[in-house]
Amino acid sequence: MAAVKQEAHGVLPVASLDEAARQAYINELGKHVLNYITPGNKAVYDNHVLPSFQRRHGRAPLDRHEIRKEMVRQPFYQMTSSFQRTIQEMMWNAVDESIQRQLPSLIDTAQKFANGKTKGSLTLDPNFEVPPYIINNHNHATPGGYGADLMPGDITAGALYDRGGYIYTQGLFGPRMDGIGKAAAMMVAQSRPDLKPKKILEIGCTAGGSTGGLSMMFPDAELHAIDVGAAVLRYAHARAESLHLPIHFHQMSGENMTFANSSFDLVCCLATLHETSRSATYNIFKEAQRVLKPGGLFLCSELPPYKGFDPWGQFVRDWDTYNNNEPFWGAVHDLELKDVALEAGFEADKYFEGFGPGVAQANALNAAVEVDNKKFMGSTRGGGQAWYAGASK
Ligand SMILES: C[S@@+](CC[C@H](N)C(=O)[O-])C[C@H]1O[C@@H](n2cnc3c(N)ncnc32)[C@H](O)[C@@H]1O
Repeated sequence: MAAVKQEAHGVLPVASLDEAARQAYINELGKHVLNYITPGNKAVYDNHVLPSFQRRHGRAPLDRHEIRKEMVRQPFYQMTSSFQRTIQEMMWNAVDESIQRQLPSLIDTAQKFANGKTKGSLTLDPNFEVPPYIINNHNHATPGGYGADLMPGDITAGALYDRGGYIYTQGLFGPRMDGIGKAAAMMVAQSRPDLKPKKILEIGCTAGGSTGGLSMMFPDAELHAIDVGAAVLRYAHARAESLHLPIHFHQMSGENMTFANSSFDLVCCLATLHETSRSATYNIFKEAQRVLKPGGLFLCSELPPYKGFDPWGQFVRDWDTYNNNEPFWGAVHDLELKDVALEAGFEADKYFEGFGPGVAQANALNAAVEVDNKKFMGSTRGGGQAWYAGASK
């Protein structure tokens, strides 16, 4: 794969030659396992598990849960799951080692951006309590998770997401990790060509990659972004300032925002619902509805719901729920987001869902970027198209 080189910015941890070699090795190992070893599970299922299940039950498995109960007993599945999980942990460890080596200077740089003449702003809440579903659960096995804030001025969680996320997604989100935000902006133009948002909010911004994409696509809008983690926000703010992107970051939960009613023309929640709890999803929809102006749009991007896939396809996609610290992954993919939107006060005829522009299309905006989507982390993920749920107020 012609790897896309991550674009440098003020707080991106720079890998030494040895660190870069280790990160590249882990990247290649992950691709190899996902593309050439893990797919062997289908033959195990077709040739052994399915016939045996049919002999015992007189029918095929009805859903992913029945398939899972059988597959977790298969040595080949145990082996590939162990490979995948171990590679994931190796990847975070490699990135973390590189961050720790340069942490004091990264913290120092972030503080200089925060204290200097800024285009955006950073508002942290010292009394904020990170919700238990984040603090107790280190999503995608990231050490410490999104809520870790280990020392004064810490930016580790943000740096881990930015650099680790880039390796994990094999450059798919683009050199600035902003493809998700750019793709969402393309979806806004496609679904609501009349909407020219002047004030935008992103809920769940992490290191500010997707927010940066929104900033690039809506350069004249006033852009706000929230997250629950102080360390991701410090990093996101410094990163945005170093890239000259005017973004206002706030430590706040999307479940309970301090913004006034009818404040925003566009509220986005991008690749975030699968990493928040089920009850938080309901609360975020309610809050989004509240802070949207009449005529505004709430747009979520997510992995597509399971309802479009057969039981095997669902089982394959559900690996992260059980093996990658993603306890809400399966639940949100089963959820009818239309029901959630209606409960939040949106009207049925103003709700839409379906596929739209993905990061591959967003990256095509940058002609210099080459991404090999077919080889991206096996068959369960891909950048061709993203799935969206949207509701206008
Ligand atoms: C997968 S990341 C989002 C990635 C980001 N949108 C991007 O594309 O670059 C999910 C983020 O949602 C945040 N999050 C989860 N629950 C939240 C809540 N209730 N309020 C605000 N942020 C939340 C997490 O802390 C995490 O940073």
